[in-house]
Order: sequence, then structure tokens, then C-alpha cells
Amino acid sequence: MNAQPRRVEHLQTDKGSVPVYTTAVVEQPWSTYTREDHATWATLFERQREILVGRAAREFIENQHKFGMTPQAIPKFSDLNRVLKQATGWELIGVEGLLPELTFFDHLANRRFPVTWWIRKPEQIDYISEPDLFHDLFGHVPLLLNPVFADYMQAYGKGGVKAHGIGTEALVNLTRLYWYTVEFGLIRQDDGLRIYGSGIVSSKGDSIHCLESAAPNRIGFDLQRIMRTRYRIDTYQKTYFVIDSYDELIRATEPDFTPLYAQLARSESIPAGAVLPGDDVLQRGTGEGWADNADV
Ligand SMILES: [Fe+2]
Repeated sequence: MNAQPRRVEHLQTDKGSVPVYTTAVVEQPWSTYTREDHATWATLFERQREILVGRAAREFIENQHKFGMTPQAIPKFSDLNRVLKQATGWELIGVEGLLPELTFFDHLANRRFPVTWWIRKPEQIDYISEPDLFHDLFGHVPLLLNPVFADYMQAYGKGGVKAHGIGTEALVNLTRLYWYTVEFGLIRQDDGLRIYGSGIVSSKGDSIHCLESAAPNRIGFDLQRIMRTRYRIDTYQKTYFVIDSYDELIRATEPDFTPLYAQLARSESIPAGAVLPGDDVLQRGTGEGWADNADV
């Protein structure tokens, strides 16, 4: 019998109805994964790895090899942790699903990355609205082996704890940074534009759209600009932000954001698809197919 995630309730938020899970750290119930679960992992793994050739940042695939991730079976967190702890001091912990913000930030601030232990059902291969094991493991974990990116994730967690104490608006600003970097970031590498965002690499449609579609804007990384920019949760992104290196992320998050939040509170938020004077525009999107309902 397959174990079930312990869902507590659904909360109605500005992001729609979101499931709330127990916040406890759980042991990965590896022996309860069914053949179907392992097959889902294999299908997703093989499909994404094929798509990501020439699209993902080079270290993304390299690091999956270092972890020994294969399509054969869902990896054991304990095996991945042996590699990860030694490399960057991070540790994967099993969770039931999305965590409350402060709990999530606290884990990151202490170099613990929460990974949802359950994997989506076969009928959700192409789309699932909440993070599952495939998104978390395949998408997020590889870059935790990169020392600079690993430090950025911790800095983000510390910043999150601080923003949580400052107020809702500060959290909104900071969440946009996570969205446009950790989840949907692009990076310029020697051989061209590449994907490093987990929300992209774990999705077939996003992996192709972000690089090849003429619809979205692609704009150079700008911390303040990003923290003002709304985003899409239900459709492809209207804008992607491009970094030149992970150092750029770390440098941007070194200063204390407190004065920045005060400044941002006095400025308007930017629609997801807008291009502003002063933007470092790599591509101005055609806007084709953009939904016109509200951005988050
Ligand atoms: Fe994610």
C-alpha cells in the first residue's frame, strides 16, 4: 500500500487554494514507493534529460551525475545526502509538501532543503500545481552541489526569516526574487543561454518555452526590478531574468534588504510582461498567447 501525504487542510490565499501539510520532518518512506511511482520517476527523468541537452546549465547535468541520479529508481535521500553534506554542507530533509513560509526559510537558513517525499500520479506527468518529489529532487537538488548557489540559497533563507519579521510587503518582494531566480532563472554561459531555474528544468513545456518562444521578454538580472515584478503561476512566464553567473546572485543578496524594502514600498509593482526604460533587454517578447487575467 502506497503511503499518503498527511494533508491537513486547504487554505484560500491570493495564490488560490493551497494545500497545507504537516510541518514535521519525515523519514523518506522509500520502501513504500510502488512500481508505478518508480516508473513515473523514470518517465519524467528520461524525458527531461533528453530535453535539457543543450538547454540546461552545464553544472545541472554534471551534478546529477555526481549525485548518481538515474532513471532506474527514485533516489534515496540518504544516498544523496552523503554526497551533498560532504560537498556543500547541505542536507535534504523529507517533508509532506509545501511548508509555511517561516518554516521553509528557517530550513534554508540552516542549510536544510525540504524535499516532498511523494511523487505525482501518472495522469499528472505533464502538470502538477504543487511541488512533488520530481520537482524538488530533479529540479532543485542538483545546484545545491554548487558552492556559490548553495550559499545563495542559505542567504535567501536568512533573508526570508528577516523579511517575515518586517512584514507582508517585504515577503512579497523577496518571494519574487526566489521566483525569478531559483524557480525560473536563466543564465548566460559560454555556449549560450541556459536554464538553471527548478520550475523550468522540471517541466517539459517550460524548458522549451523559456529559451525558444518569441513570446516572453528576456531581461538582464536586476535585483530591484525583480523585486517589483509580478509573475504568473498558471501560465508560462511573460518575462525571464538572465544572470551571467551565480556570483551575481550572491553579490546582490549581500547587502541588508531592510532599506530596500522601505524604498520598494513607495514604488508601484510592475506587471509581469512589462518592459521598462533602462531594462537590459535581451529579447523583447511578442506577447503572443499571453493571458490577460491578473498577474500574482
Ligand atoms: Fe520549487
